[in-house]
This record gives sequence, structure tokens and C-alpha cells, in this order.
Amino acid sequence: MSITTTPAWKALQEHHDELKAAHLRELFEADPTRGETFCAEGAGLYLDYSKNRVTAQTLELLCDLARAAGVEERRDAMLAGQKINVTEDRAVLHTALRQPQGAAVAVDGHNVVPEVHEVLGRMSAFAEEVRAGRWLGHTGKPLKNIVNIGIGGSDLGPVMAYEALKFYAQRDLTVRFVSNVDGTDLVEKTRDLRAEETLFIVSSKTFTTQETMANARSARAWLLAALRDEAAVARHFVAVSTNAREVAAFGIDTANMFGFWDWVGGRYSLDSAIGLSLMIAVGPAPFRELLAGFHDMDEHFRTAPLERNLPALLALLGVWYNNFFGAQTHAVLPYDQYLAYFPAYLQQLDMESNGKSVTLGGQVVDYQTGPVVWGQPGTNGQHAFYQLIHQGTKLIPCDFIAFCQTLNPLPQPGGASHHDLLMANVFAQTEALAFGKTHAQVLAEGVAPDLAPHRVFEGNRPTNTLLADRLTPHTLGALIALYEHKVFVQGAIWGINSFDQWGVELGKVLASRIVPELGEAEPELGHDSSTNALIRRYRARR
Ligand code: F6P
Repeated sequence: MSITTTPAWKALQEHHDELKAAHLRELFEADPTRGETFCAEGAGLYLDYSKNRVTAQTLELLCDLARAAGVEERRDAMLAGQKINVTEDRAVLHTALRQPQGAAVAVDGHNVVPEVHEVLGRMSAFAEEVRAGRWLGHTGKPLKNIVNIGIGGSDLGPVMAYEALKFYAQRDLTVRFVSNVDGTDLVEKTRDLRAEETLFIVSSKTFTTQETMANARSARAWLLAALRDEAAVARHFVAVSTNAREVAAFGIDTANMFGFWDWVGGRYSLDSAIGLSLMIAVGPAPFRELLAGFHDMDEHFRTAPLERNLPALLALLGVWYNNFFGAQTHAVLPYDQYLAYFPAYLQQLDMESNGKSVTLGGQVVDYQTGPVVWGQPGTNGQHAFYQLIHQGTKLIPCDFIAFCQTLNPLPQPGGASHHDLLMANVFAQTEALAFGKTHAQVLAEGVAPDLAPHRVFEGNRPTNTLLADRLTPHTLGALIALYEHKVFVQGAIWGINSFDQWGVELGKVLASRIVPELGEAEPELGHDSSTNALIRRYRARR
């Protein structure tokens, strides 16, 4: 049965008809304390969702929808290790990666938490060796350049978190991330590095991903061109994977392999051994703080009632705009330079998870699923695309993310500090988006009547504001888990499998079919006329 046929969905539709014309100005006038009541807290994060086009009744109806969709039951099934990823017959247990020592989570009757901590222990020992300069390269030099080779979840999580936690990183280490199969990525990221001081971490769950294996092979060739001894690979390459056979076939000693498990999805794997580059950069203790932040949000998600549950609230507000207002996209706007990669990370997390159009049972959906997720850090975005959010024709719900304390206080002689300027922009943007400026206000400012329409801000643009005290490893863990669970709740409401990604397969298969057609011998091309012509033009002009 489609979720759209449930009484909860129908009640929301009727409610939307009544509420859709209401302006946030009116909602705030009707309830002047709204800014203090439409908020929730958990795991060190404060969410103000008062600037959304909702009333208390909307929230009740949205929570009814979550209950009708069985969100809480599905959450409990996930946390208990049930195989909710039905198309791959797998458990979905990234939450087990951040369970404290001594906890128990079973997959097929087997407690996985001890293995998680065993790997964490090995990662910590290795990270300490590298950080202290005790892990020596083939020529006896400490390795101070760390290059992670991976793509998708084996890249976006580590690079995002490394950038986010750079403040805590050991600065005499150079940490780079190579992902694109475009040779430029590897060439530019290694051109100023000395091979004898460089450690490559080949991160790939499957260890068969075309881009990663091509980059790993070329990195090995780069290393051997300088060190001229196959034995160097053992000191300069380690692997993070679930596939010991392929790791060994590549030539990496499996003693230098850090494992994880098929119940960790790629885009949910930062807190597994995939985070090794991050752990080397910041150290094992901050990495464990990060895990504790994840776990605190997991616990909040598990225990808080839907009405005060941060991931559920973000998810339900997203459903409200996506499915009832017809919003196509969702912007994530971190007001912290360290979170520059956070929107890109969320793109994979959200769009690879919920970019689906059939239900768990294989029925084509008759409603919208995952939105287009995008964004970049403020204030830069304000000078790029905010014009469209303020005055364009599209409804774009936004999440603003900000911190009360900066990690880099920068006072200005005789003026406001950089952080006060930054935060003033956060508050100003959400205020402007919600309340806008009326035609009458514009005229009252003395603007000529013919110019007035251009100066009107309709307002009524919904925003969430997430405030935390400070960007710490703990806060980052909580923030990532918040979005992981938001995506989960939305997937549960839409009745889709958020944990497979068959949609990326076809392109991979076709690419591997085309690769030999780009070789020396003239191929017989059997594609459509467009693809054939493009291949011929490339072959002729390369
Ligand atoms: O993009 C598809 C995908 O399978 C992602 O889900 C995954 O994160 C990425 O490729 C990389 O996969 P692997 O870690 O196996 O190299």
C-alpha cells in the first residue's frame, strides 16, 4: 500500500491546503514565543525550526505520518542488526562502529562490537607509529605525507572530516586525498611529495573500484620509479578494505590491511577503518571523540520521542516541503570554513541513499523521494546563489549550520570580530528569508514606485538553524549522525531502500565495455549513433 493512501498522508494534504498560503510573518505574530518553543536539542546540537511553514498541528500530523510509516520499528530493526538492506541481504550497522567497548550488537547471532574495537586498536597503534615518525619508509625515513586513495564513501567522508577537523591535525603531516580517475588528481596531489616520505592508504570496500585501482596502480608506479625496489610497497602502501583476496593480489601485505564489514555501507563508513587517514591526521583520541559524538546522536535518535527527535524533525520537515510543497532541492549552508566539504559529503549520503524510485517491495513510487542536496559555506554562497533563494521562483528549504565559538578568533581593531560578522550574517539571512520586505516597506523607504517591485522580498522561505557551541570532533560526529538518521527516516517514510545504490552500476558496466574500444585497434562500434560518433571523434583527435 502506498504511503500516499494512508489517513496520515491525507490529513497532511488537507492541512497543507489550509496552511500553504500562511506567511511566516503571520505565524510569528500569532505565536510570539515560537522562536523559543519550536526548537529541540540533542547530543550538543540545538535546532531552531521555528522559521518553517508549520504549526504545532503540522508537527503532530508529520509525527503521525512517521508512525504510520513504521519509522520507529524500522529504526529499531536497523539498530538490532536485522537485514533491512533487502536487495543486498545485509544488515545496516554503521551505528555498531561507534558503540562503546563492552556493548553488544549481533549480526546473525554474532556480536560484532569486539571486532570493531579490535580494528580500532590496530588503527590506533598504526596511527601512533606514523604520527611519532616511527613507521619508517623503505629508505629509513619517517613517512610524513599521507595520501588516501579512494572514491565515493571511501573518499568523501575522510576528506570532509579531515578538512572539518584540520584545527586538531598534526600540522607537520601533509594529508591529501586522491579520488578522480582523471590523472590530474594524482599528478597534482603528488608532484611536490618525496616518494621516500609518502604513505598511500588505498581505501576501497570492494577493492575493485575502477578509479581507485587505477590510481593505486599509478601511485605504486610513481613510488617504484623513485625507490626502484618492489619491496618498498610493503612500507609505503596499506589498505582499508573488506576484500583481503584483492588486497593481497594488488601486492599489499594483508598484515597492513585494516578491515571492515559488509554491513557498513560505503557512504556510512567514515567511522570504520575508512577513517584511517583522518585518525593519522588528528590522532586516535580525537577520533574516538568523534565516535562518541556519533554515538550520542545515535542514542538521541533511539530514545527521544519523535516530537523532540532531531533527525526525525529534520526528516519530517524535509518531507513536508518535498512532498506537499513540491520543493525539488534542499540547501545545506555551513557557516564555518572548516565545513567546506560538508555539502559534498551530504550529497552522497542523501542522494545515493534516497535517489530511488521503487519501494522496498519493487513498486514504482507515485510520489517524490530524495531531493537534490547542494550548498556551500556562508558567506561565500550569499554572493553567489542566495539571490535565487531570496527572490527566485523556486522554494528552497535551507539548513544553516553555525557555531557559537570560533576556533580561530580574529578580532578587528576597532570593529566587530570576524566571528561576530559571520554570525550576524547567519541570523540576518534566516530573518530575511522568513520575513522578507513588503511593497509597503519598500515604498516607505522612499524607493520610486517603478523600482519598488524589484526591491520586494516575499519572504516565507523556510530555514532550519543548527547551532552548536564549537566545532569539535564530538560535534562533528553528532552532526554527521544527525544527517545519517535524517536520511534514514525519510527513506523509511518513502518506503525505499536507502542502503543500496544500483543506480551507479549501469554507467560502471558501460564504461568498462567502452575502455577496450579506446585501445589501439580500430573497434567495431555497436552503440547508438551519438555514442559511436563521440568515440570516433575522440579517437581521431586525442
Ligand atoms: O558510488 C558507488 C560506490 O559503490 C559507493 O557507494 C562507494 O562509496 C564507492 O562506490 C566506492 O566503493 P569502494 O569503497 O568499494 O571502492
